[in-house]
Amino acid sequence: MRAPSHLLAISTLLTSPALSAAITPGTLSLVPSFPSIPTAAKMYIYLPTSFPPSPPKLLPILVAIHHCNGNATSYFRFMNNLYPSLADSLQYLIIYPSAPTTGGCWDVSSLASLTHNGGGDSQTIVNMIKYAIENFNGDPDRVFASGTSSGAMMANVLAGAYPDVFHAVSAYSGVPDGCFHVDTALPGTNNPGWNRTCAEGLVVKTGQEWGDMVRGYFPEWKGGYPRVMIWHGTEDDVLRYPNYAEALKQWSNVHGVEFVGNVTDDPERGYTKSAYGDGTKVVGYSAKGVGHNVPIHELVELEFYDLV
Ligand SMILES: *[C@@H]1O[C@H](CO)[C@@H](O)[C@H](O)[C@H]1NC(C)=O
Ligand SMILES: *[C@@H]1O[C@H](CO)[C@@H](O)[C@H](O)[C@H]1NC(C)=O
Ligand SMILES: *[C@@H]1O[C@H](CO)[C@@H](O)[C@H](O)[C@H]1NC(C)=O
Repeated sequence: MRAPSHLLAISTLLTSPALSAAITPGTLSLVPSFPSIPTAAKMYIYLPTSFPPSPPKLLPILVAIHHCNGNATSYFRFMNNLYPSLADSLQYLIIYPSAPTTGGCWDVSSLASLTHNGGGDSQTIVNMIKYAIENFNGDPDRVFASGTSSGAMMANVLAGAYPDVFHAVSAYSGVPDGCFHVDTALPGTNNPGWNRTCAEGLVVKTGQEWGDMVRGYFPEWKGGYPRVMIWHGTEDDVLRYPNYAEALKQWSNVHGVEFVGNVTDDPERGYTKSAYGDGTKVVGYSAKGVGHNVPIHELVELEFYDLV
């Protein structure tokens, strides 16, 4: 099928064979031409209904990352979230990566995935971003990642391993970067694996120790790190609540910001916002009485990303 002429009009930005495939703006679409390397994760994309933008402009990129037992399609509909409809009105594109494992979990446990250019799933996701920059008008200066559970762990992993790519991330019900590492020298382990000690909320470190782990995954990096928003339910029975405080220790150390205070009932009743520094780099939201499925708060996130 040939691309419609209105698509050819911006061929200076879009020199892509990708769009000629079955990618329909306003619909979740598999990107069949994406070479799934270094791991076999698949790339799905949601282009806003008005794509290609006229006049031509670059579109912010949001990577939305699914939980275990999920996939791109299920996460697209996850809890009736508004990412796609807001993409239409605010003009950003969404990448939905789909994990290559049978259980649908992301590799957030091997050093390959934890480390910059280490060859794991995190690198495949970064390759999707590069693909969207080259083929779908993606803006390299506005790249964000958000995820739930295993996807939240991946958001933290991406922030730690690819601070050169991401500008801000949001993690719903995850664990600190590196906490899920599985050491395959230990008996009965494999990767990607499940770190039970971390899931149970039993891994407690200082901010300095957590921060050193992040810095250790990309030791050559001398620049800044993505801004981080952490969400967690107090009644989480899958990835226990202590992971919330540990993640905040980690990112406040990385950003060199201190806790400044709580705001109760923000952004809604029962949630407590914890602010660090001037509030622009590290923010936590603790959801009282909420379990593992913390609803996505799209507008709070998009404001944090400066997209609204
Ligand atoms: C994605 O997950 C949904 C819900 O679990 C399932 O019904 C569907 O078959 C899955 N799709 C793929 C391509 O695996
Ligand atoms: C789980 O992670 C903790 C630290 O994050 C580590 O001490 C422990 O060895 C890990 N467990 C396995 C099985 O690798
Ligand atoms: C701030 O809120 C968090 C999460 O609800 C809570 O654990 C912490 O004790 C609060 N800190 C202060 C100083 O109130």
